[in-house]
Amino acid sequence: MEVIQSVQELRLKLDESKYTLNEKNSTDRKMIGFIPTMGFLHAGHASLLQQAREECDIVVLSIFVNPLQFGPNEDFEVYPRDTERDLIMAREAGIDYVFMPAVLEMYPEPIKTIIQVSKLTDSLCGASRPGHFDGVATIVAKLLHIVEPDRVYFGMKDAQQVAVITQMIKDLHMRAIVVPCAIVRDEDGLAMSSRNVYLAPEERKQALVLSQALQKVNLWLENNGEIASLEQYLKAFIQTAPIAEIDYVKALSYPSLTEIDHIKDLKFGERLIVALAVKFGRTRLIDNTLIEVNPERSE
Ligand code: PAJ
Repeated sequence: MEVIQSVQELRLKLDESKYTLNEKNSTDRKMIGFIPTMGFLHAGHASLLQQAREECDIVVLSIFVNPLQFGPNEDFEVYPRDTERDLIMAREAGIDYVFMPAVLEMYPEPIKTIIQVSKLTDSLCGASRPGHFDGVATIVAKLLHIVEPDRVYFGMKDAQQVAVITQMIKDLHMRAIVVPCAIVRDEDGLAMSSRNVYLAPEERKQALVLSQALQKVNLWLENNGEIASLEQYLKAFIQTAPIAEIDYVKALSYPSLTEIDHIKDLKFGERLIVALAVKFGRTRLIDNTLIEVNPERSE
């Protein structure tokens, strides 16, 4: 495993390693898998690394806490970091290259070109965190240009991020295929997140209400397909945790992230996403579930 800090060096290394000569003396291009992260790796990240390792010839992991996607009152300065542990996990996962640039390497001067994905960012975290997805789309575009992967791995924990990046790749004719990976949870159901370390024991205990609420969605929809009443029911359930402060609880059509009134209004090929963002103390957690609609239910 090689740890690389400079854009130019990573490009050179990948150029050297991605082509091999075959028996006919022509070149084969190796398949490159890429996992962009902000580090402080946990089992959720590890599942992405593992899937990339299984599917690709060369696997590149980036660790970069991207200032552009944090709002002025957010946690950029204190975002958890543990490079040593990250590198141990990366080595265990069989990663070939870890790209760990400094902020000045990625942003040598104030950036003047920003990627903006519209519509998909009007709701959920896009509405609560203005500019966040511009920052995400911009850094992911930069990283994709540097790594030029065939496959790029993202977790469905950040389902809106998956929708935004998939759209950007399509709109800009980028080559990578987005591979969405399932949400990894702790044994008690809490979705894994680097930010879970901020939670005090009582906050962590009450945060279990999120995955418990999402587990109730299927059963509720079997009796009542009205979206407004589903959202109301989930909000009331979450509020049984006294310190829970709801940012949003929304059910939308996915991946278009458009509003619908009833589950039967879902268009062919779309799923229902039930997504939530809730604060416990100072920590804002997100979680979601995706519901496939079977034909009987939509009748
Ligand atoms: P980060 O929060 O570090 O997450 C990196 C990747 O790991 C994302 O695709 C995220 O969805 C995935 N992930 C996080 N928790 C997960 C879980 N519990 N189960 C499955 N996957 C999980 O997302 C970012 O970084 C940044 O926005 C980034 C894309 C790197 C751009 O800066």
